[in-house]
Amino acid sequence: MLQLNSVSYQKGKSDLIQSVSATVQPGDRLTIFGPNGAGKSTLMRLMAGIIQPSSGTITYDDSLSGKNAIGYIPQQLALFENLTVKEHLRFYQKMIGSKTNPFMNEMIETLQLKDFWNKRIDELSGGMKRKVNLTVGMIQQPKIVFLDEPFVGVDLAAKHDMLNWLNRLNSRGVTIVFVTHDWQVIHELADKMWLMENGDLLHEATVDEVVHDHIELPDTSSALQKMISFHRY
Ligand SMILES: Nc1ncnc2c1ncn2[C@@H]1O[C@H](COP(=O)(O)OP(=O)(O)OP(=O)(O)O)[C@@H](O)[C@H]1O
Ligand SMILES: [Mg+2]
Repeated sequence: MLQLNSVSYQKGKSDLIQSVSATVQPGDRLTIFGPNGAGKSTLMRLMAGIIQPSSGTITYDDSLSGKNAIGYIPQQLALFENLTVKEHLRFYQKMIGSKTNPFMNEMIETLQLKDFWNKRIDELSGGMKRKVNLTVGMIQQPKIVFLDEPFVGVDLAAKHDMLNWLNRLNSRGVTIVFVTHDWQVIHELADKMWLMENGDLLHEATVDEVVHDHIELPDTSSALQKMISFHRY
């Protein structure tokens, strides 16, 4: 579906991503896992087409050729403080040239957005904002969605609603690629893991293989090792 061929990304003199080659398959539930500064957000932005590789190529198959095929939910909230939730949805609907449709209605209902429908963003809690951030990034009904830490500060009930929605979409064929530091989310939303450190994709494995220590990482990856050992807590 999406293939990275020796993708590197430089900013100034630093190599943020170092020659990553990997493939995302249709229907994958994939998490990119690694310590702060590993390059996870940078790699997601490359795959979502927001930034371009300094070298190497990213190729997409025909299913991703439509302009609305890729969804991206950024780590930093991308919302207008003075607009209500309802106004956000109307605004983004206009941008994609779509009227309210069954997909949007289902999303609004599953994420229970009507509970704070007429509130302005600056009146919402952190978790509510994350739900709106998720909604506007998905409004065009993407085939693949990149979610960068979508659950930060979200309470367990809201997390449940969001996970439920994403897994339902995945069961209908939507490919999910996400970053989180939350093992509960990994267990509930991922099958595969890309283990990253210092801009390198060190290993690709299933969640089961990682959890059961059936992988070998280079000695340099002590931060990653510690993060993996936390799955037991
Ligand atoms: N615009 C930029 N200019 C220069 N360096 C950058 C820029 N954006 C990110 N970096 C650097 O690139 C590296 C990777 O950053 P990135 O945000 O991709 O990491 P991350 O794995 O998403 O981390 P986190 O878990 O903290 O979100 C870091 O060392 C960061 O300082
Ligand atoms: Mg990040």
